[in-house]
Amino acid sequence: MNESVEVGRNAPVDSNPPVALITGITGQDGSYLTELLLEQGYAVHGAVRRTSSLERSRLAHLYANKDLYNQRLFLHYADLDDPTTLRRVLTRVAPREIYHLAGQSHVGLSFEIPETTCEFTAMGTLRLLEILRDLPRQPRFFHAASSEIFGRPEESPQSEKTPMAPVSPYACAKAFATQMVRIYRDAHGLFAVNGILYNHESPRRGENFVTKKICRTAAAIKAGQESVLKLGDTNARRDWGHARDYVRGMWLALQHDQPDDYVFATGVLHSVQDILEHAFSALGLKWQEHVVIDPQFLRPSEPMFLVGDNRKAREALGWQPTVAFGELIEEMTLAELARLEARPEQSLA
Ligand code: GDD
Repeated sequence: MNESVEVGRNAPVDSNPPVALITGITGQDGSYLTELLLEQGYAVHGAVRRTSSLERSRLAHLYANKDLYNQRLFLHYADLDDPTTLRRVLTRVAPREIYHLAGQSHVGLSFEIPETTCEFTAMGTLRLLEILRDLPRQPRFFHAASSEIFGRPEESPQSEKTPMAPVSPYACAKAFATQMVRIYRDAHGLFAVNGILYNHESPRRGENFVTKKICRTAAAIKAGQESVLKLGDTNARRDWGHARDYVRGMWLALQHDQPDDYVFATGVLHSVQDILEHAFSALGLKWQEHVVIDPQFLRPSEPMFLVGDNRKAREALGWQPTVAFGELIEEMTLAELARLEARPEQSLA
């Protein structure tokens, strides 16, 4: 962020237009949600870490728009491990809605940094809930929960009622945060919602998630910049949808008259192998000639059969996924190729 910009000084405090605060605004979901809320007429405030760089982030196109930045889009420094900064931003912004998307979100990495993961993902959420509890005007609160909380579930597909059985430090942190949201809703009367989000991807996905890694490397192979793609378990299966659909679900969940939990999922399982086949064939390549299994990308334990039952979100919110798996992978792969062709000097290094 440009240090000379005074963030958060011109923020309106009443709720006309409606005011939303997003933690994790610079991420994939934060950027799509910001676009959606701006389209809906909101003033959008984002909490960003001091270390975040906005110049090259997914928000850069909005940040550069002088009609939006510091007019209807405001950024504030606040860290999830620093309750004073969180409280200050919440008091100053007085949002009608909070979308809590921030946290350490990589499952594999959580085995290496479990304490950091719990500090941000579990305790960061609890800190926010504690601050909200004391506010005179309590905003509606959306928590980005995860299908990972189900781990090795007793039933498939999973619904809002499926018991949690986490199998990674990340999943454990999310399970804690999810249950805390339920407790603050039931015991303290907060309008607090868990969106139990299954995997959701897009061209804006971070580079160390498997869809982006495959689509990006396939495009680099096509462009002659790479020849090998190293992966972990290609038999791993997940329920993958498009991030733009999932942020619409977040917004719908906070417009409902009652706070509740909702599964956001496509209800269809695919394997990592399916991603490979779609991405490589979209570029006219043979995955067999390039893919190598590398044990460094295998995880100590893997969830099984994570596929969601989205009936409640469909029926209560009128939500539905609109992008099929094949379309999603093709969009991501072609976006990577277009990016490389536009800026050929940007290799994977
Ligand atoms: N990242 C990665 N890299 N994953 C690989 C690889 C690889 O080289 N090879 C195989 N996989 C497998 C993983 O072991 C996992 O089974 C699957 O691909 C998906 O991995 P990720 O894309 O890293 O996502 P995730 O399922 O672990 O977690 C994502 O989805 C959750 C549910 O929405 C993240 O976005 C989480 O934050 C989110 O909660």
